Amino acid sequence: MNNIGLIGLAVMGQNLALNIARKGYSLSGYNRSHETTEKFIKEKVKDEKIYPYYDIKSFVESLEKPRKIILMVKAGKPVDDVIHELLPYLDEGDLIIDGGNSYFKDTDRRIKELKDKGIHYLGMGVSGGEFGALNGPSLMPGGTKEAYEMVKELLLKIAAKTDSGECCTYVGNDSAGHFVKMVHNGIEYAIMQSISEVYDVMRKVLKLTSEEIGEIFEKWNNGELNSFLMEISYKIMKHKDDKTGKPLVELILDEAEQKGTGKWTAETSLDLGIPTPSLNLAVVGRTLSFFKDDRVKLSKMVSRNYPQNALNKDEVVEDLKNALLFSVFSSFSQGMWLISEASKVYGYGIDLKEVLRIWKGGCIIRARLLDFLMEIITEDNANLLLSPKSVKFLEEKIDAVKKVTKLAKDNYIPMLTVNASLDYFYSMSEENLPANLIQGQRDFFGAHTYKRIDMDGIFHTEWQQD
Ligand SMILES: NC(=O)c1ccc[n+]([C@@H]2O[C@H](COP(=O)([O-])OP(=O)(O)OC[C@H]3O[C@@H](n4cnc5c(N)ncnc54)[C@H](OP(=O)(O)O)[C@@H]3O)[C@@H](O)[C@H]2O)c1
Repeated sequence: MNNIGLIGLAVMGQNLALNIARKGYSLSGYNRSHETTEKFIKEKVKDEKIYPYYDIKSFVESLEKPRKIILMVKAGKPVDDVIHELLPYLDEGDLIIDGGNSYFKDTDRRIKELKDKGIHYLGMGVSGGEFGALNGPSLMPGGTKEAYEMVKELLLKIAAKTDSGECCTYVGNDSAGHFVKMVHNGIEYAIMQSISEVYDVMRKVLKLTSEEIGEIFEKWNNGELNSFLMEISYKIMKHKDDKTGKPLVELILDEAEQKGTGKWTAETSLDLGIPTPSLNLAVVGRTLSFFKDDRVKLSKMVSRNYPQNALNKDEVVEDLKNALLFSVFSSFSQGMWLISEASKVYGYGIDLKEVLRIWKGGCIIRARLLDFLMEIITEDNANLLLSPKSVKFLEEKIDAVKKVTKLAKDNYIPMLTVNASLDYFYSMSEENLPANLIQGQRDFFGAHTYKRIDMDGIFHTEWQQD
């Protein structure tokens, strides 16, 4: 009898299976296409206790009870298909863990459906890509505490470790784990977009080569901006193409793809009424990039008037670093506020500091900045901007962000996310927004009413009489 089962032996499943087996567990593996299983066993499995199965019945029968089965299959219908196939062979008390990037509302539905059948279900975010899956990912399991306890020991063993402990915790009730993973990806989109925007200014305004930008990014990665995404960015900048010898990044088509988690984050932020402009604009940035033909046509139609003034390169680089720090902080703070609101609305019971802690290692958004965020976040202070330490951190950088966004605008360079981060801070720290005029307009055409600042009550005006 094997300790645990894993279905879905693509890149993530294979690496997670190896990680689990290397921690001393015996594992039954199953994949819809048998060739993938055979290839995995032949090429990747050495001494690990990983055993292949080619039909669901014998796969399930090979597991000790209560059975624990991890799914690492494509999100969406495949997860339902696999659950449907498993159900006839499962017993009450068995546990299914969905480790894919499932939409949190699907996870809630599945938890309910399976609860009626006595089957436990955990929706678990897994971050870290294939390297993390193999060497220690950040794990975000959500569901019942009882279900978590069934696999707690194993999950803690396979997760990444940092000076703050294992990068796994019980995230919360129902779909809390998949919700947190979704927002993690939304933040990931925003950080990636912010780094790319800074890169754009460096290459187009400062005329730096990819290698030079790589050097600067590497230096930044040794300081406050230290993070996985900064690290891979400097490595990408320095990587030479085998075929041409040129920096490979310069040969990659500028159309950024997406699989849906960033879009779900943006949609959910609008549903819950929490402003996350940096996260939303990062999705828009990817969408815009896809209109390559139109962009090429338009670039030939518009005329541009570039400024001729000399720039102090070192000063601009320093400003870009601070603008990036500002935008990364802002992206995290928007994401955490969204998670906190969801925790209230959906009753997740999420410990926000724990979420930041388990992002410190293994995961794609691991960053030195997380220590600072952990220091300032509290349950009553889910909006991180309200901390005096945040205000100090952002105010120290605001002149740099103003200079960088102006420089970018003068040079026709879009900075969707960095601008959004600045405008977010301006909006959130502005006592008087022009929403009074919007309320007037709404009342004018739709009798939607408005409140006044000088007296209580709800008012409507017959504006046409003017
Ligand atoms: N790649 C990453 O860096 C990463 C990071 C974190 C989380 N994730 C998530 O982890 C999960 C696995 O990711 P991945 O990149 O390894 O693989 P993937 O490309 O998302 O999915 C491929 C796997 O799903 C299986 N599958 C697809 N449709 C199926 C169906 N109808 N019935 C049964 N199995 C089906 C495939 O089996 P066949 O071989 O038979 O096609 C294969 O094992 C996904 O939810 C993904 O979003 C991925």
